Amino acid sequence: MTTFEIMKKTHFVVVTIFFLIYLIKTILLLANKKENLLSFSKKIKVLEMIVSFLFLGTGIYLMFDSQITPMLIIKISIVFLSIPLAIVGFKKGNKGLAALSFLLILAAFALGEMNKNKKAVISDKATNADGSINAREIYTSNCVACHGDDGKRGLAGASDLTATQLSNDSIASIVINGRNTMTKISGITPEQASAVAQYVNENIKGK
Ligand code: HEC
Repeated sequence: MTTFEIMKKTHFVVVTIFFLIYLIKTILLLANKKENLLSFSKKIKVLEMIVSFLFLGTGIYLMFDSQITPMLIIKISIVFLSIPLAIVGFKKGNKGLAALSFLLILAAFALGEMNKNKKAVISDKATNADGSINAREIYTSNCVACHGDDGKRGLAGASDLTATQLSNDSIASIVINGRNTMTKISGITPEQASAVAQYVNENIKGK
């Protein structure tokens, strides 16, 4: 497992715990169980601090390592908007604000899940029925947007792949780690990166 995957799993677990704590608190507030809310908040205080810390920490790590999509920006904005609402809502016992901030967190959580399902481009279609790697499919789904089918599109300064002088290993390393403005292809395995590198050198270079 890569650091990125570990961070992603940790993020999911802490976000789920954070969400459950929040759900219980919101229900207690809405149900007028002030005393229960107070004792629950007290009991959960340390756990909540650890979870919030990990939530933000892993979130920030993932943010710097992900492609910044409009969806991601919306999700992060919603999370940051809900925090002050929740603080004021729970402090003042304002049910409207607490419920609103809960709904916002729920929306951000749902957006995150939706995004996750879309991201599985590499894992499914990149593998043929016989288990071999479909390099052409990896190229089409992950490279064409910037480099074009023929390698010459050059979107946002993308290199002309017909003129590359790089070895398969160097290309694979760029795919895995990124280079300057080319973001890394997250979730790609070393084998898939090698296969797509070979595809570039055999089918695009010099054409
Ligand atoms: C978001 C746009 C984007 C995507 C997607 C992308 N690239 Fe790139 N690629 C770039 C940019 C920009 C550069 C130039 C980077 C630099 O200036 O160092 C580049 C450079 C390269 C180079 C270096 C070529 C050379 O000879 O120096 C290779 C090889 C490459 N990309 C292969 C790929 C492959 C294979 C994929 C798909 C797995 C891919 N790229 C996906 C934008 C992209």
